[in-house]
Amino acid sequence: MVLSNVVHSQISLHQRFRGVVPEVASRSHTERILPIVRQALDDAKVTPEELTAIAVTHRPGMVGCLLVGLAAAKALAFRFNRPLVGVDHVQAHVHTGLLADPDMPLPALCLVASGGHTALYKLIAPGKSERLGTTRDDAAGEALDKGAALLGLSYPGGPSIENEGKDGDRKAFKLPRTMLDKTSLDFSFSGMKTALLYTVQPPGQPKPDELPSGQELKNLAASYQEAIVDVLVKKLRRAAEQHDVQSLCIGGGVAKNTRLREQIAADPVLKQLHLVLPPLDLCADNGAMIAGLGSILFRQGKTSPIDLDAVATAQSGGKIKMRPRKRRVSK
Ligand code: KG4
Ligand code: ZN
Repeated sequence: MVLSNVVHSQISLHQRFRGVVPEVASRSHTERILPIVRQALDDAKVTPEELTAIAVTHRPGMVGCLLVGLAAAKALAFRFNRPLVGVDHVQAHVHTGLLADPDMPLPALCLVASGGHTALYKLIAPGKSERLGTTRDDAAGEALDKGAALLGLSYPGGPSIENEGKDGDRKAFKLPRTMLDKTSLDFSFSGMKTALLYTVQPPGQPKPDELPSGQELKNLAASYQEAIVDVLVKKLRRAAEQHDVQSLCIGGGVAKNTRLREQIAADPVLKQLHLVLPPLDLCADNGAMIAGLGSILFRQGKTSPIDLDAVATAQSGGKIKMRPRKRRVSK
């Protein structure tokens, strides 16, 4: 049960840079960490002595930010003599479905789509997942953020594009959908971003004096969002057809997108699964999902040493499914 979920958003700090500046982010973490911990305890009406364990994100991410959280969590664990549980932030997104719906039948197909990651996982059992596919270049959120910048819309791009495209024509611009080969569960969004750039600034032609505006901007935003949502939904369908799964859950900031949710719920294959589209505050980065996976790991005895380190990369989430390659027979 989630007793409190306090999030301090740094969006206003990073907006003018159109992206997260690591140094600014870690300084802000240092300033905010203690007030946030205090508020989370107050909202939950819990004293530190009543805590069972302290869960903390230790990977993946910007090391400066991770170190601030780790230092605070270690201090709490040491002072109140409680176990420390290191959590992988991407795995926490994978487990958000279980937090929103603890009875979600497993195995579940999970889409994690955020600013830094876009991947499909099979959640086999609590604490155990297998990565089925991942992006080969940009994450979906990154493609939305960069697409928005290109259209002159504000950071973060996902919500700006969603708002701008509300009254736009999703079919006005024909943008490609990168599906890779016929069975691949990997993603690639960088070509789609370039296609948007070339739509706005055709190659070989002088750079337009003005950015798109009015109905044209609405149509561009709606068409670009539709292309990205289309790829995410088609890959989910492909994964559901290839793997034996009973449920589908989504996590990460892009999972807040209304059109994505609509299209998942409308898809003839996907809607046959037990769908868990978590509340929006559990989709974007939040502490409750870290505590959620932390409590699963704690119950499994998977606590961490007090010298737990910050790691920039994600854990692979089990073995990566590779399609068998055809062997070349030499003659
Ligand atoms: O999970 P998250 O909060 O942080 C990361 O771990 O990256 O995801 C942030 C990403 C950003 O790229 C943002 O543009 C995207 O989520 N996002 C959205 C929406 N809200 C946030 N994308 C599409 N539609 C939204 N409504
Ligand atoms: Zn995230």
